[in-house]
Amino acid sequence: MNETVADLQWHDVGEPDDFPDGAVWPVVAAGMPIAVFRAGEALHALHDLCTHGAAKLSDGYVENGCVECPLHQGLFDIATGQPCGGPVTQAVRSFPIRVVTRDGAGRVEVGIG
Ligand code: FES
Repeated sequence: MNETVADLQWHDVGEPDDFPDGAVWPVVAAGMPIAVFRAGEALHALHDLCTHGAAKLSDGYVENGCVECPLHQGLFDIATGQPCGGPVTQAVRSFPIRVVTRDGAGRVEVGIG
C-alpha cells in the first residue's frame, strides 16, 4: 500500500529525550505496537512484530543499523524494515516519524495511514 503524507494521521509517542541513541523503545500509536529506534539524530519506527514469528522487535538488539529479533536472530534494517539477515524474508512495516514543536517543547510523532 502506498501512502502519501496527506493520508497520514500523526500520533504523539513522547519527547525526543525518551528515545536515547542506539536503543529501541516500544510505544503504541493508534492501538498498534511500534518500535522506535534512534541512530544519532535520526529516529525510525517499525511495526513491533517480527514477520517471521510472534516476537517483539523492541525486545531485540540493535547493531550496525539493524535490529536482531530475539527469537531466531533475524535482522531488519531499522530505517526501512527490509530484511538484512535470515531467517526473515519479509519486510516489517516501517512508519514515518518526525519531531515537531508544540507549546515550546519537542514531541515525537509517528505517521500511520
Ligand atoms: S520470530 Fe523473528 S526471526 Fe523468527
